Amino acid sequence: MRNKLILAFGISAIVSMIFMSCDYVNYKQGQGLYEANCVTCHMQDGSGVAELYPSLNNMQSSKTYFEAIPCIIRNGLNRQESVIEMVGLQHLSEVEINNIVNYLVNDMNKLKQEQTLQQTSSILLKCK
Ligand code: HEC
Repeated sequence: MRNKLILAFGISAIVSMIFMSCDYVNYKQGQGLYEANCVTCHMQDGSGVAELYPSLNNMQSSKTYFEAIPCIIRNGLNRQESVIEMVGLQHLSEVEINNIVNYLVNDMNKLKQEQTLQQTSSILLKCK
């Protein structure tokens, strides 16, 4: 009995280590987080809703724009011309934000521009 418990604990520890080690490179986590936090406004495919919620499908390959995304996710956005403001999602960690950015840029927009966790962290330090 005791041995089985130890075995079960060991297996679950290994499985969770495998999942955690994927966090940095696997955009699947980014996709899951996008689905949990963003689709209500920006839609599943990122097409948005007319004038209300901007489409995330047409990212120019401009670096300035990529660099803005982590801060937009964390602190929200309230541009003068917008109808509704986006409220920041403060509960998301740097790793989670990084995975969402990579999902948006590399998977949704098919641009090959991986953003490293270090880049995201230093961007987040400089958010206004
Ligand atoms: C409650 C609705 C809502 C949710 C949830 C939401 N957003 Fe937004 N988002 C908006 C609105 C509204 C704007 C436009 C704000 C403005 O222009 O001032 C916006 C703007 C943006 C922009 C800038 C787009 C552009 O054209 O410049 C990005 C990038 C973005 N959101 C990403 C995300 C991501 C990623 C998530 C999930 C982590 C998310 N948003 C969740 C409503 C939302």
